[in-house]
Amino acid sequence: MPSFADQAASELYRQSEREAIVEALATTRVVFLLGARQVGKSTLARQIAKEEHSATVVDFDDPTPRNAALDDPVGFVAGLERPAFIDEVQRGGSDLVPAIKSVVDRDQSAGQFLLTGSANRSAAPACSIP
Ligand SMILES: Nc1ncnc2c1ncn2[C@@H]1O[C@H](COP(=O)(O)OP(=O)(O)O)[C@@H](O)[C@H]1O
Ligand SMILES: [Mg+2]
Repeated sequence: MPSFADQAASELYRQSEREAIVEALATTRVVFLLGARQVGKSTLARQIAKEEHSATVVDFDDPTPRNAALDDPVGFVAGLERPAFIDEVQRGGSDLVPAIKSVVDRDQSAGQFLLTGSANRSAAPACSIP
């Protein structure tokens, strides 16, 4: 069982991560939170999308938005109200990130997309920016 000191250190670490993400959103068009499963990415991003950086939340574990994005990535991204948080972005297909890139190439404002994805080998190519 973690000690009280371990828990306090973990909370402090988490708080500094949260601040770093919020700070990145203030200056950067797309912020991508990439990491192993079960480390708390979705929880943290949802909190930020609700509190510090109000955003439309899309979760690609849900087949409805996932299939919409797979069918028509450009239309899906164009129809998203921004700021938008997309969870499990690697499940949206290989044309999704280029569609996001095209939107933010035309609109340079900061904090438009917060993306989270899992760091597995099959996700990496789908999420690389050409
Ligand atoms: N700050 C935290 N402290 C304790 N448990 C947490 C914290 N953040 C998330 N969790 C728990 O850890 C698990 C994984 O969190 P989740 O956000 O789904 O991770 P990921 O999106 O990286 O897979 C969930 O059961 C969640 O409730
Ligand atoms: Mg998650």
